[in-house]
Amino acid sequence: MDLITQAPRGTQDVLPDSSHKWQYVEQTALAIARDFGFREIRTPVFEHTNLFQRSVGETTDVVQKEMYTFEDKGGRSITLRPEGTAGAARAVLEHGLLSGALPVKVSYVTSCYRYEKSQKGRYREFHQFGVECFGASAPQADAETISLAMQILSALGLKGVALHINSIGCPTCRAKYYAALKEYFASHVEELCGTCQGRLERNPMRILDCKSPVCHGIAADAPVMLDYLCEDCAAHFEAVKSCLSAAEIPYVLDPHIVRGLDYYTRTVFELVSEDGLVVAGGGRYDGLVEELGGAPQPGLGFGMGIERLLMVMEQTEAPFPPAPACDLYLVSMGQAAAQKCFALATSLREGGTAVECDIVGRSLKAQMKYADKLGARFTIVVGDNELETGLAQLKDMTTGETEEVSLGDLYTVLRQKLLDRELADMTDLFGSIAEFQ
Ligand code: HAM
Repeated sequence: MDLITQAPRGTQDVLPDSSHKWQYVEQTALAIARDFGFREIRTPVFEHTNLFQRSVGETTDVVQKEMYTFEDKGGRSITLRPEGTAGAARAVLEHGLLSGALPVKVSYVTSCYRYEKSQKGRYREFHQFGVECFGASAPQADAETISLAMQILSALGLKGVALHINSIGCPTCRAKYYAALKEYFASHVEELCGTCQGRLERNPMRILDCKSPVCHGIAADAPVMLDYLCEDCAAHFEAVKSCLSAAEIPYVLDPHIVRGLDYYTRTVFELVSEDGLVVAGGGRYDGLVEELGGAPQPGLGFGMGIERLLMVMEQTEAPFPPAPACDLYLVSMGQAAAQKCFALATSLREGGTAVECDIVGRSLKAQMKYADKLGARFTIVVGDNELETGLAQLKDMTTGETEEVSLGDLYTVLRQKLLDRELADMTDLFGSIAEFQ
């Protein structure tokens, strides 16, 4: 089959009609994170494979089954990033940011790659908005990170997303827990999938988030980490819950959250839609920096799936700002008018206005039709008469009203009209978000 005109399975194109929705979600998230002190970081789309093996973990589904790994022409093993935390931690370490003022707070919007069974809400290329905070061990940091995630959802007008939290302890309390888990799973060993049989000795907690329905069923009755927390981890978790309550952030205690990546310690959380779709997940990873060769530093963060966020927003009819439209279409009749329109368009664009004019050589009627298709807010027709008088009719395409303007004053007149329109659009959007909440 000829696949040239078909995107690979599990990938999606973002077409011009919906890219403004992506920009809106990404810019909103980055701006709110900025208010919390997070500044954007950009890391490479590929890293050395062993970075993910060391951080995400050898026995995770992500590393065992889902990574896009290849050898480059220099014989190095390279992997397309399956998530954003490892690259951010590597960059922060590599550039010595942890020897400056702490905590170091970074945010990112990034594409991720996982060879998963693609289905609705699960893709092979997907995008995450994420934050990572290094050097903060207090429970307030956990609550702050969670509150940031919640604030983003609320600003986007997302309804019905519940916060689920759990604590998965630290290496100290895990020793006893692992013993209990091994004992439990040992009595079901024959029923476990091949991968999980191999995990039983090396990392029994990974069996808890295996995607195989049989392992999942067995895991449902397994002992939970919450019952095995050491004193320090229990106190930390109590303090996180108190902080959330003090800030009136409602949560559901969910002892079954284990997360699919090995670096987590203590607090873990997920934001779950009414349909059970996990739109964001994160938690603490106090051992990660040391695991990657740095001096011990605590860390925490979350990743939000942008495709899933948009999907829930569409499903729940959350409001989006209108798609950016052409502010003015300059319709020209004849060569001289076309040249004048091009000059006008150039100066109006320099002033920050979205202007288009004919670049195809269309007739007046065809230009009008095209302006209509573009959804131009205003049109103006320039012919010999307008060139001679310097006056033209500015038409508001929404109301159909026309107004005579001098071509010399066009920028000022148009700017005022557009500002009024923008203000009305913003008021509408804020109104619908407020109504929605
Ligand atoms: P994660 O739970 O693997 O965590 O992914 C975070 C979010 O990315 C998920 O909640 C989901 O919304 C989205 N996501 C994951 N896989 C897919 C997929 N195949 N298709 C579409 N969306 C997906 C992490 O990646 C951690 N790095 C999060 C983190 C940051 N923890 C601490 N800091």
